[in-house]
Amino acid sequence: MEQFIEVKHVSKSFKISKRAKGIPGTIANLLVPKYEKKQAVQDVSFSIAQGEMVGFIGPNGAGKSTTIKMLSGILYPDAGEIKVNGYIPYKQRREYVGSIGVVFGQKSQLQWDLPVIDSFELLKAIYRIPEATYRKNLNRFMEMLDMVEFINRPVRQLSLGQRMRADIVAALLHSPKIVFFDEPTIGVDVVGKEKIRSFIRELNAEDKVSMIFTTHDMQDIEKTCNRLIIIDKGAKIYDGSIFGIREKYGTTRQLDVEFSENYTVEPIQNVEVKELNELDGRKKRFIFENTQVQIDALMNHLLQNYGIRDINVSEPEIESIIGKIYAGEVC
Ligand SMILES: Nc1ncnc2c1ncn2[C@@H]1O[C@H](COP(=O)(O)OP(=O)(O)O)[C@@H](O)[C@H]1O
Ligand SMILES: [Mg+2]
Repeated sequence: MEQFIEVKHVSKSFKISKRAKGIPGTIANLLVPKYEKKQAVQDVSFSIAQGEMVGFIGPNGAGKSTTIKMLSGILYPDAGEIKVNGYIPYKQRREYVGSIGVVFGQKSQLQWDLPVIDSFELLKAIYRIPEATYRKNLNRFMEMLDMVEFINRPVRQLSLGQRMRADIVAALLHSPKIVFFDEPTIGVDVVGKEKIRSFIRELNAEDKVSMIFTTHDMQDIEKTCNRLIIIDKGAKIYDGSIFGIREKYGTTRQLDVEFSENYTVEPIQNVEVKELNELDGRKKRFIFENTQVQIDALMNHLLQNYGIRDINVSEPEIESIIGKIYAGEVC
């Protein structure tokens, strides 16, 4: 079955002019310009169902924004196909824009010198939003994002978090079915980030809006999305649940034990402890491979042979696993 959003084998490269140095180089460049090819997105495929909310993450320069720009019809792919809600974004842009909303955290679509509300009125005219829809959306979003106090202020006087919230509303006034968020929390303080996250969650849950949410911040994703796509150097390297990341990459676990005395722990039969770290006092940390059998064997052994006050198994933080994926330490 064809999905709501289909991306098939999409690639995109940019030509970057390569500058030779000095005056002779400048002249040479004018005569015969030299270009370097930068592969921004390479053979990326995925599909997204209606109402699904997907986190799209990757290090700086991974190709996130380029993908969002192709999905929203701003850029043409070099190869591959994209179809969203029956449209080919880059070919049917005029018909298509009415069904999507796009928020670029780095670039505002609001009028700098005008009060926020004036920009909204302008968008209402541009998108020909019916009065009733406009009122309903505006009132609801303003309340959800706590915007009443700054709606009449010029955009240039807003904090970054306030500006971002206004930009989010601007992208949603026409009730799009699909929203692309490109770094909507970048530079926003913790409280502002929470407001944006809970708004995104609610919009997805109540209005069944499909969303792609790119970010640097893994917390954004953990708090909003179930599904995660990771891209690195233009290529997709993971597509699955957040939970699945641990299954696939989180190969180690740790067991923190508080002993009743300062024991020397002897090697344990059939349990391969990768590291044994002394924490403060009588506390030790065992780091081992992530299989249930080993946890049981290790816990049983410790409980039977030593006096134990407290025992606690924990998994590595998703953030640290993803850091390792980017660094190429796991694959
Ligand atoms: N307009 C452009 N011209 C030249 N290179 C670009 C352009 N846009 C993006 N790139 C390059 O393509 C790669 C991917 O960029 P981008 O999609 O913005 O990454 P991300 O959003 O994941 O940080 C980067 O190496 C970037 O420098
Ligand atoms: Mg980007």
